[in-house]
Amino acid sequence: MSMKKIAVLTSGGDAPGMNAAVRAVVRTALYRGMKVVGVLNGYNGLFDGDVVEMGPRAVSDIIQRGGTVLGTARSDKFRTPEGVKEAAENCKKMGIDGIVVIGGDGSFRGARDLSLNGIPCIGIPATIDNDITSTDYTIGFDTATNTACELADKLRDTSQSHCRCSIIEVMGRHAGHLALQVGTAVGATSIIVPEVEYDFKRDIVDRVMYAKNNGKQHYLIIVAENTCDVNEMAKKLQEETGINTRATVLGHVQRGGSPTVCDRVMATKFGFAAVELLKDGIGNRVVASKNGEIVNYDIYEALNMQKSVDADDLYIAHRISI
Ligand code: F6P
Repeated sequence: MSMKKIAVLTSGGDAPGMNAAVRAVVRTALYRGMKVVGVLNGYNGLFDGDVVEMGPRAVSDIIQRGGTVLGTARSDKFRTPEGVKEAAENCKKMGIDGIVVIGGDGSFRGARDLSLNGIPCIGIPATIDNDITSTDYTIGFDTATNTACELADKLRDTSQSHCRCSIIEVMGRHAGHLALQVGTAVGATSIIVPEVEYDFKRDIVDRVMYAKNNGKQHYLIIVAENTCDVNEMAKKLQEETGINTRATVLGHVQRGGSPTVCDRVMATKFGFAAVELLKDGIGNRVVASKNGEIVNYDIYEALNMQKSVDADDLYIAHRISI
């Protein structure tokens, strides 16, 4: 079945580069002779009929912008079977033949459910966490790691001046990809990720003391969110070592900012590949990056794949942070 009109939406937590993906989807669809509409505020826009027609100029000047011009949401209503049915019926009423969904795993589950209800969908992986199991890379990861790295570098300046230890909590949801990348990039004395169990004495106190005895006078510890309370950790570390310690939670600042070259380029490639599938009536798939190639998978299969942080990378980062 060839498609006449497709839609694009962004869903879940925003990620730098989502706009570049929206642009690529819109321009590819137009190039292929299809009409394209933007759905506002994630899946919620499908309930309210909140859609806007997108011409080529609707996506001008957004390739460099952070956030998402379409708005995003985590829709509770869409998680129910009745919600999905209603959304699919609304799509049919609006003449939407297929949808490109830009977001994370949760958004892909929605795309699968809509596909099963007769609206073919293609998922594009976008989240700063890089925790989508079917792809090596997710849009937003490079920008977020660079932002976190820049902020950690600033904390290093003040830690160095005061001979302190700085414990920095980064995002990542329940995955340590962001923490490992940032920790490696800043030469952290210790990197704590949820995938690898840590021992406070062995992995924090002993490492800091070893570095201290090697002449080090300031320390950075990168901790993935949802692994521990960094304020408590700072208190305990100061008590045990006598080293002045501060904790900083970087928070949502990691989600903002102009996307890096890497994120813009990946978003462009993913966007093009997604529309190429949809134009031929192919749905219920996600596009992904595997060993440098753009590939695609059945959504169900994709959601059941496994991916973890690279234990070798963590080993290397720790061995050379003495
Ligand atoms: O998935 C992106 C992310 O920023 C995670 O890193 C974080 O755990 C979560 O979203 C925060 O969600 P919210 O924006 O709802 O606070």
